[in-house]
Amino acid sequence: MSALVIRGGQRLVGEVDVAGSKNTALAILSAVVLAEGVTTLHNVPDVSDTRIKARLLEKFGAKVEWNGNSLTVDSTHLFAGEADEETVRAIRTSFYLLGPLVARLGLVTLPAPGGCNIGARPVDFHLKGLKMLGAEVILQGGIYTAKTEGLRGAEIYLDFPSAGATQHLMATATLATGMTVIDNAALEPEVTTLAEFLNHMGARVEGAGTSRITIHGRKSLKGCEFRVPADRLQAGTYLLAGAITRGDVTVRGILPETQSAVISKLKDAGAEVTEGPDWIRVAVNKRLKAIKIKTMPYPGFPTDMQQPMAALLTLASGTSVLEETIYESRIGHIPELNRMGAKVTVVGDRSAIIEGVSGLKGAVVVSSDLRAGAALVLAGLAAEGETVVKNVHFIDRGYERLEETLTALGASIERVGTYEAEVV
Ligand code: EPU
Repeated sequence: MSALVIRGGQRLVGEVDVAGSKNTALAILSAVVLAEGVTTLHNVPDVSDTRIKARLLEKFGAKVEWNGNSLTVDSTHLFAGEADEETVRAIRTSFYLLGPLVARLGLVTLPAPGGCNIGARPVDFHLKGLKMLGAEVILQGGIYTAKTEGLRGAEIYLDFPSAGATQHLMATATLATGMTVIDNAALEPEVTTLAEFLNHMGARVEGAGTSRITIHGRKSLKGCEFRVPADRLQAGTYLLAGAITRGDVTVRGILPETQSAVISKLKDAGAEVTEGPDWIRVAVNKRLKAIKIKTMPYPGFPTDMQQPMAALLTLASGTSVLEETIYESRIGHIPELNRMGAKVTVVGDRSAIIEGVSGLKGAVVVSSDLRAGAALVLAGLAAEGETVVKNVHFIDRGYERLEETLTALGASIERVGTYEAEVV
């Protein structure tokens, strides 16, 4: 098991070119099997989640080749292969292959995705939508079997604007006969980019980025070349790393409008934030003040930034309030922050009250999930003395060699053990 060892107290200063978006890449790597041809993706983050997803594609006959951050997927000839439960369970987005594969193959089996440490994460919206599109899906012995005589367009209303369900159903509908409408669709930039990718493959998807998406089905799609945009969640994490160390950090390659909630909250807390067409800079030279955060679907404050933001607020003056509305229990970081001297009280499973302290102290802490790990690294950067963050495999799911980026900004941080993406 790897760990990150951090000697806190360095101000982070400098610029970061943000790596490609993990969640966009994962969505694209589900949709890529819709193409009868070769697709080349650039700027794919080399993290364990994308590695696992690429390996999963091979189980269904796709030929996959990595070349640095470019990934070529030849999905011309697919077959209804058997994916092992371990690989499927490792990443939730395995499940988002079910629709595209049944659209291509007519029959496919896939083990059910696992739960995770942030909540139950059911797939009922996906199942309802696939059924409406004409796929029969049954779950037996922990394995989903999906079959269809041919998908047909449908009018699908989502009870909640789920990013994953929107992406999954939007992609699947590109090969359905006729028109599909998804109402109450998620507005996340990852949805919009997926729609752009599908259109590059020859699909006709309209309205992505609004709550009504229309898809006109095609008989087949072709391969294409596509560049994954920068990761807004990594960008947010580096901005918070700058802020928590009272540093001066610029993230490049990121559209500020995808980050407006984080920018606004940093400003409320007293940080100086400036932005250009594709960069954001945060500078902090005084103690920040307490704020209220409530996570919401995009463009609201992202749940994925709630945990890193909690780390920042442990050091703000006054009492901050966090409310998590997306997941049932995304609070694994809180007991660990308290080990470092933070004063955070959990209220129920979804809220926390943070009484700002004047300093954190290094400690041995354990990541419970990806963003909890990021939060603990941020806390370690600001803490006095040495912090050891364990369970770094969670961090390696979504941050490409986090320690290298932070070292380039002036952090003192070292990895003990291997980079997880390398051993996938
Ligand atoms: N939900 C249901 N039923 C469903 C689908 C979702 O009840 O069929 C619920 C979920 O349980 C959750 C809410 O809807 O309470 C939102 O879930 P959503 O489907 O939007 O999330 P997701 O697509 O599974 C993606 C990201 C998450 C990110 C969320 C919210 C990927 C691979 N994951 O998950 O990213 O938190 O959207 O923006 O794209 C992360 O990167 O750390 C991460 C967890």
